[in-house]
Amino acid sequence: MCGIVGYIGRQQAPPILMEGLSKLEYRGYDSAGIAVHDGHKINMLKAEGKLKNLAAKLSENPVEGCVGIGHTRWATHGAPSDVNSHPHTSEDMTIAVVHNGIIENYLSIKEELSAKGYRFVSETDTETVAHLIDFYYKAGNDFFDSVFMALDRIEGAYALGILCKDYPDTLIAVRKNCPLVVGIGEGENFIASDIPAILHHTRDVYFLDDNEIAVIKTDDIKIFDREKNTVEREVFNVKWDIDAAEKGGYEHFMIKEINEQPKIVQDVVSRRIPESSDTIDLEGINLRKEDLEKINRIYVVACGTAYHAGLIGKHLIEKVARIPVVADVASEFRYKDPILDEHTLLIVVSQSGETADTLEALRIAKRNNARVLAVVNAVGSSIAREADDVFYILAGPEISVASTKAFSAQVVALELIAFHIAMEVGKMTKEEFAEIKEELYALPAKISTILQKDKIEKLLAEKYLQSKNVFFIGRGLDYLISMEGSLKLKEIAYLHSEAYAAGELKHGPIAMIEDSTLVIALATQEELFEKTLSNIKEVKARGAKVIAIALEGNDGFKGEVDDVIYIPRANKMITPILANIPAQLFAYYVAYGLGTDIDQPRNLAKSVTVE
Ligand code: M6R
Repeated sequence: MCGIVGYIGRQQAPPILMEGLSKLEYRGYDSAGIAVHDGHKINMLKAEGKLKNLAAKLSENPVEGCVGIGHTRWATHGAPSDVNSHPHTSEDMTIAVVHNGIIENYLSIKEELSAKGYRFVSETDTETVAHLIDFYYKAGNDFFDSVFMALDRIEGAYALGILCKDYPDTLIAVRKNCPLVVGIGEGENFIASDIPAILHHTRDVYFLDDNEIAVIKTDDIKIFDREKNTVEREVFNVKWDIDAAEKGGYEHFMIKEINEQPKIVQDVVSRRIPESSDTIDLEGINLRKEDLEKINRIYVVACGTAYHAGLIGKHLIEKVARIPVVADVASEFRYKDPILDEHTLLIVVSQSGETADTLEALRIAKRNNARVLAVVNAVGSSIAREADDVFYILAGPEISVASTKAFSAQVVALELIAFHIAMEVGKMTKEEFAEIKEELYALPAKISTILQKDKIEKLLAEKYLQSKNVFFIGRGLDYLISMEGSLKLKEIAYLHSEAYAAGELKHGPIAMIEDSTLVIALATQEELFEKTLSNIKEVKARGAKVIAIALEGNDGFKGEVDDVIYIPRANKMITPILANIPAQLFAYYVAYGLGTDIDQPRNLAKSVTVE
């Protein structure tokens, strides 16, 4: 949720920390702060609001030093404010801490330390960690041991960056259930919650595992487990380019990422179905006939947009492979006591690979001997590392909080998994697959066609900008895309919007339709068209304004709707990817027209690493 960056080396730390934080602001953006060791003491600056407020403070009160930690916050404990911002320190600034995650037992520790005379100034859970380390340090332990003793006491999820006034040559980093990488430089080293923060400086990183502690100096990095044994870790070389984490001339990351979709879809398809091949190459993923014979239950579990991709995956596996699949949101699944054993396949879907609920669903499945296949974007993320098998979508860093390109790539990945399973279990012939392959190869060009005509969505967004309530309706796969379209509009335009199965409207929600309610009707599944048209007529008769998203050449809407956005025709199982693009563009242009903060919408964070 929040972003952490840290530096130790020979250069001035503040500019490196600020640059790193600017790359992490998408993770949390209600306040920010840095703490810098100047060789004698720790100096700290914090500011509520966006990073520019901290930058302004820093230019008025420059701090200097070659060791530092920085943080951009998404509030969990205590409202956004200067005092609640990180870093948090012990009272005399001996210890400074930045933290992602939640310390679950902070209240009892706070009480205990308060009784010993410790004075707390913030409402955060993190401040407890600074005081607790300070407590063990003042009791005569060294910095390293004091951190270990504090870790024995705290419960919850955390990535920590820690400085001690008396150790100007040391930065300590800790990871438990929150991502943290150590960047390896020459004569300098880094920590970061996410790679873009340090990619300008190094491509070589160590991914810390849970319960590992890194002791980082200018020319040395040592990683320890909780028993204080040193851990050997392989260096991971980041392959993607820094440009992928920059806006590249676009006004927002969201529109840049929407426009990357043809290329990303093409890459996912061509990596898995080489031109000469008549099958899907799921190399490294154990979904062969003999693996599938051992499986009698499949779940697809995820959150938010990834869940919507998962719903499409469920629909397609059932449709083409004729195997029942249960789809669930991870926050519900984990508390349902789901039926899991060695005959279960759990497919988890996650862009970040760090979503706390999805990760916990995976762990529950593994504890019950189920097999876990993860569809993930972030390479080396917790979900990717803990799953049995990984289908990397490799869509590059997705910076916009609203997920777009990851969704399209996830849907393609799940389609490939569905078609592969269908072929393995003998429900899809090579001839049938050959047709699908052709369609998948044609998909990027069709997405480009929609993107080139984005003036339509822009005009419609302007026309319907004043809508107060929006309904997305559709049947079958169109209903699943309605859910995703509605979520996009809510999260970036803050418009009240609901998705309904078109046939379900008259069982209640139609009561909400009144003059000028905007209904966006997805009608791209040809065999359901007439049914959806009847539902469109029902809302029109009650005064709704209707925009239809429909297949090119379908003129059955004439006189029935206010506006139509046409998409190219494709195989009906592939069409949802196309149908979703106008919904993404519409949400973007409505948010643009309303002047919201598109890439960093209020109250949200890119990766939700708390429950
Ligand atoms: O990183 P994940 O894919 O696991 O994230 C899941 C959701 O938090 C995410 O899709 C969220 O709903 C997005 N903001 C949607 O645009």
